[in-house]
Amino acid sequence: MPILHVDLAERGYPIHIGANVLTDAALWAPFAGRPLRLITDDNVARHHLAPLKALLQLSDEAVRVIPHGEPQKSWAVAGSLQDWLLQTRLPRDGVLVALGGGVVGDLVGFTAAIYQRGVDFVQVPTTLLSQVDSSVGGKTGINHPLGKNMIGAFHQPRLVLADTDALRTLPQRELLAGIAEVIKYGLLGDERFLSWIEAHLDALLALDQAAIGEAVRRSCEMKAQIVARDEKESGERALLNLGHTFGHAIETWAGYGHWLHGEAVAAGMCMAADLSARLGWIGEADAARATALIARAGLPVGVPQGMQPADFMQLMALDKKVASGKVRLILLRALGQAVMTADFAPAALQQTLHHFCQQTP
Ligand code: GLY
Repeated sequence: MPILHVDLAERGYPIHIGANVLTDAALWAPFAGRPLRLITDDNVARHHLAPLKALLQLSDEAVRVIPHGEPQKSWAVAGSLQDWLLQTRLPRDGVLVALGGGVVGDLVGFTAAIYQRGVDFVQVPTTLLSQVDSSVGGKTGINHPLGKNMIGAFHQPRLVLADTDALRTLPQRELLAGIAEVIKYGLLGDERFLSWIEAHLDALLALDQAAIGEAVRRSCEMKAQIVARDEKESGERALLNLGHTFGHAIETWAGYGHWLHGEAVAAGMCMAADLSARLGWIGEADAARATALIARAGLPVGVPQGMQPADFMQLMALDKKVASGKVRLILLRALGQAVMTADFAPAALQQTLHHFCQQTP
């Protein structure tokens, strides 16, 4: 069973990956005797709450089941969780457990970050996307109508348990959205991993445990290394946002929850590859290879119908990577080598936007 470590001195923590780690009593032993509160959503609760609730000996009062879906990442829900923690008198040495996908993880992480100025929390990601990305690295937060993840805090978990067996209950669409983030790691930093994904895509889609375990392991390993070098995203960590500037614009335009995050990132990665090819940084065949893999995984390679270049420009101006009024994008110098840059011809960006919005510039 692979164990990785996020190397952040006193804020460092282990990531355990494998079948049934969720209910491995030994992994929970460090929290024995501490007051726990568990938050999950209604979908995840149906499949995974009962065994964990029993293992951790949680009362009904110590468990909160929220509705599923992106709209839960809101001020209103974050506020109601604070009310609940205060009403149930969780002390400062209490621990929150986030059982679920990226929405639950981001929301509970944020809740843990601000409750009594910060309490410990454990990530138990149950979607592929949250196992390979959002549960690791301490980015927590909620959405604002003007932009996704615009309000939040860096707050590292104490432990991540990525149970690959839990993925069996994942709807196909969510599995594919997670595959998008796995492809992201290959594109941004490891061409050999990209080739591995191409060779093992069918096994990944069939949820072959060995293939999924390796995809989660390598993705988490790359993420852990990047986060250890650049926790607060002053540089390299931004590369993990490949496809995200275009993708966030798509998610915001479509309305949160209509496009899954991974779907929007998939389309955004195609746009980043297209722009990189227009700039002459990668070959057209490289962009086509990236797009073909994303298409083969059953993910979107185009933008929502009706979305216009002006919509992208307006929404991308809100991106957190904007610096001194300039949009910075993650683009590709090669397959497996991403860079963050504001140094691209604006005309090339317009061509990409018009191409994807099916207009002629
Ligand atoms: N999902 C990007 C990051 O954690 O930095």
